[in-house]
Amino acid sequence: MSLAGVMENPTLPRGRAGMETEIRRLKRALNAVILAHFYQDSEIQDMADFIGDSLQLAQQAARTDADVIVFAGVHFMAETAKILNPTRQVLLPDLKAGCSLAESCPPHLFKPFRERYQDHLVINYINCSAEIKAMSDVICTSSNAAKIIAQVPPERPILFGPDRNLGNYLIKKTGREMRLWQGSCIVHETFSEQKLLRLKVRHPGAKVLAHPECEERVLRNADHVGSTTSLLNYARESMDREFIIATEPGIIHQMEKACPEKTFIPAPPESSCACNECPHMRLNTLEKLWLCMKNRAPEITMEEDLRLRALRPIERMLELS
Ligand code: 13P
Ligand code: SF4
Repeated sequence: MSLAGVMENPTLPRGRAGMETEIRRLKRALNAVILAHFYQDSEIQDMADFIGDSLQLAQQAARTDADVIVFAGVHFMAETAKILNPTRQVLLPDLKAGCSLAESCPPHLFKPFRERYQDHLVINYINCSAEIKAMSDVICTSSNAAKIIAQVPPERPILFGPDRNLGNYLIKKTGREMRLWQGSCIVHETFSEQKLLRLKVRHPGAKVLAHPECEERVLRNADHVGSTTSLLNYARESMDREFIIATEPGIIHQMEKACPEKTFIPAPPESSCACNECPHMRLNTLEKLWLCMKNRAPEITMEEDLRLRALRPIERMLELS
């Protein structure tokens, strides 16, 4: 529903405080847990029971005993929670909150690719649809990918998808050759190396923290590369005072909360737009969070056969992590 639609709603709680009170009340009434990704708006993060990266959110979804999982993130994340929790209701504030990376790997194109390399072990990044997960041997996230690759016997060839930037980064990091699907994320490919270098000149003491979905020309200028949680931990533990953040700037909210004395500068995108903000993540709003709990919709549903096929590689990931 558009924000305009929400504004027309006569029962809309008054102000942010009213909205927060209502969300808390609904959470108790539904016995719900709110899981939020670091890329969500700060006001959504502040309402969450748990904030984390993709791996932590999947782990949290696997161990929850709530009746309802409210997933403040994008579709593939809520879908993963549903795959792990067939009997619990999984709500997503906006069903259109997709992921450009997941969309860059359509099942009808991936299927023949996978069939061409039948002897390969298929490792797919969690940013993909349930159909793609069902065609995988094991799923990974940016926090456990290197660890999972290290557990594959050296003689077994690997097919890695859908992110070519993460794939290339892992080939360098692990020294393991892999055949890559050529997908990518529009947000992480938006950063400009030229502008980053100019920013570094203006902030000579700043450390560059980058997500491995960024292109090599950005990663080669980074002091630390890692998942969102890894970037947050680095910022927290570092003795440095200034950081340039080459990932979605939603993560800066937790960085500033953890280290109010430090400065975090978003890495500049190629154009003067706000293209470093994930347009999918930002479809979720506080109003839609409240509405989805009030209406118990939109809900993630899935055919049981697909769920079972997608579950196996996710469980393998959780075992190997
Ligand atoms: P993390 O697993 O590092 O949180 O990454 C998720 C994501 O979508 C990055 O774009
Ligand atoms: Fe997908 Fe990129 Fe958004 Fe992450 S930042 S959810 S990979 S579109």
